[in-house]
Amino acid sequence: PRRLLIDTDPGQDDAVALLLALASPAELSVEGITTVGGNSGIANTTRNAAAILELAGRTDIPLHAGCDVPLLRAPVRADHVHGETGLDGAGLPPPSTQPGAAHAVDFLIGTLRAEPPGAFTVVTLGPMTNLALALRMAPDIAGRIARVVSMIGACFEGGNITPSAEFNAYADPEAAAIVFSADIPMTVLPLDVTHQMRGTRARLDAFAASGNRAGRCVAGMLGFSERFDLKKYESDGAPLHDPCTIAWLLRPDLFTGREVNVAVETRGDFTSGATVVDYWRVTDRPPNALYLRDGDADGFYALLTERLARLP
Ligand code: BDR
Ligand code: CA
Repeated sequence: PRRLLIDTDPGQDDAVALLLALASPAELSVEGITTVGGNSGIANTTRNAAAILELAGRTDIPLHAGCDVPLLRAPVRADHVHGETGLDGAGLPPPSTQPGAAHAVDFLIGTLRAEPPGAFTVVTLGPMTNLALALRMAPDIAGRIARVVSMIGACFEGGNITPSAEFNAYADPEAAAIVFSADIPMTVLPLDVTHQMRGTRARLDAFAASGNRAGRCVAGMLGFSERFDLKKYESDGAPLHDPCTIAWLLRPDLFTGREVNVAVETRGDFTSGATVVDYWRVTDRPPNALYLRDGDADGFYALLTERLARLP
């Protein structure tokens, strides 16, 4: 299986991404989870990650808390979407496990250095603060990461936290700029794709109908964050973001896109955090990412439903 380190700010959709990865041990070996402040503060995102590991019966996986706030900026939270705990609707009890003592950034550097180059794929589901800091502290790790797979950015779809920026890029644009210029193979799952993955009532009901605890919990969580997004996007079913990264690792055939250059705006008055995607190759900036633009929503939800049903 492909060996993964997952950096995340759970968040309901982050939690579903973690569960999808944990439900797929034949293809994916999750060997570390690091948390970052984003959707909610670091105390919440770390507790939520621990609760998800307990739900999946995988408290053996190392969990390490990282940066609470962005490299340079004041934090931007999304409590309006995810609720006071960052994971409202999940109905999970407080976890009894604690994260490891090492800071997430030290854990990432140490883990990447301990194995041969190319051993790990790093998945980012929140602001890129931890990975950017790791790259600054230990530039050699860039050459040791097989690929970075990220939910971040937007191009054709416009932003979700400002008209031009997606939340993870907007929350820490300097960190995103560092990662996109680090010369690591990257795959980007932007809003262009995630907004196609609508969690309609029938799709959420299918999770609950699996009859396991994880399925009920996912239906509850997504039902909660949906209350906000349904109004916002005036649609039948809210977008589902972070699990697209894991779905691409499992089934790349469900997605289409192209290799392009992605730059991150850090200075605009109205456009801070915008991902500037050279989709039509109108510059000579070399491609630095596989930028996915479309996804098969029925295939994605079928995969998710089938995999989540394997969990306790
Ligand atoms: C991203 O922002 C967060 O609110 C979600 O967890 C996802 O990672 C979507 O813009
Ligand atoms: Ca997230």
